[in-house]
Amino acid sequence: MIHKQLENKIEIQEALLKWYKTNKRDLPWRKTSDPYRIWISEIMLQQTQVETVKGYYERFLKAFPTVEALALCDDDKLMKLWEGLGYYSRARNLKRAAYIIYTEHNGNMPNTQAEIRKLPGIGPYTAGAVLSIAFGLAEPAVDGNVIRVYSRLFAITEFVDKKEVKALIAEVADALVHTGDPSSYNQSLMELGALVCTPRNPKCDACPLKNKCQALARGIHTELPKKAPKKAKKQVDLYALVIKKDDQFMLVKRPSSGLLQGLWSLPSVEFVKDSKEAATPEGHCLDYLSDELGVEATFVKKLGSTNHVFTHIKWFIHVFELEWIGGQLPDFPDAKWVSREMLEDYALPTAYKKALVVASLL
Ligand code: ADE
Ligand code: SF4
Repeated sequence: MIHKQLENKIEIQEALLKWYKTNKRDLPWRKTSDPYRIWISEIMLQQTQVETVKGYYERFLKAFPTVEALALCDDDKLMKLWEGLGYYSRARNLKRAAYIIYTEHNGNMPNTQAEIRKLPGIGPYTAGAVLSIAFGLAEPAVDGNVIRVYSRLFAITEFVDKKEVKALIAEVADALVHTGDPSSYNQSLMELGALVCTPRNPKCDACPLKNKCQALARGIHTELPKKAPKKAKKQVDLYALVIKKDDQFMLVKRPSSGLLQGLWSLPSVEFVKDSKEAATPEGHCLDYLSDELGVEATFVKKLGSTNHVFTHIKWFIHVFELEWIGGQLPDFPDAKWVSREMLEDYALPTAYKKALVVASLL
């Protein structure tokens, strides 16, 4: 069925390119042809809104203006620059990839699918985006916007997260890329998805594809794309501990595996309801402190609670105040006593910023 639709290919391409010319936003990463900068922007844009990315993009490139600067950067500085953007593995992968580009490609971003896909953090979308936008190669770049536009344009009513349907959309995207100006073509689809063919209330009247749109013709455009129901998120009770010692409290660096790796946080421990360990939250926290951190403390009070949603997990964060009484001071580099004023030197994930707000420390 799709092949029939592709008879429209040239009209679709021309309508999109013409629309893009006069409607594209003036975005910082559209003022450069530096593959490094385009790569950074595409990584940031993957899970983050354009408006949020703008500021992070400028600060990041000021701090790390070249592949070399990123490849050799300080990890804490990197995490601080990523603070609040979420999906922190993106930042760690950027540095790893930059190191490979620096050491194995003379600092030049590779410009073939085979080489670029070997880099950590670069999947089909980012590869296509960088190859088309930075190098002008006719590669498709399918992100959520593009899936939405194509599923509506061609009235694809099956779940778009099914493997076969993804493959179909990839095939369509591949067949449709404009060979003369793949950069503008790919970005026109993203732009249309962001500005006109929006998830709710698409502005079909203003759409350059309105007379070719199968879903609009059938009146089903707002029902698309169809997505398989999501699995319920795992729910976790997390105890976040404000351990006070005079006007200071403790931060710990999270291990280099698991959630929020390498970022700073309040010492915290999950509470699993059916565990046979200490039955009370207080006992559980004190056991954790002495066993894991070598810290002795007394329980003062519960300060309040908040929550934070990640991709696969939801945290119910209970914030407790404790008083340090002794035992071992943390003697490893991954724990620090800090005051409120020192907080800005540490990369803190949003979940813990919420906990610090509950504790009136932020
Ligand atoms: N989203 C991802 N990449 C983009 C780009 N280059 N322009 C606008 N939105 C985007
Ligand atoms: Fe999207 Fe409406 Fe345009 Fe169809 S006509 S592509 S639904 S904005």
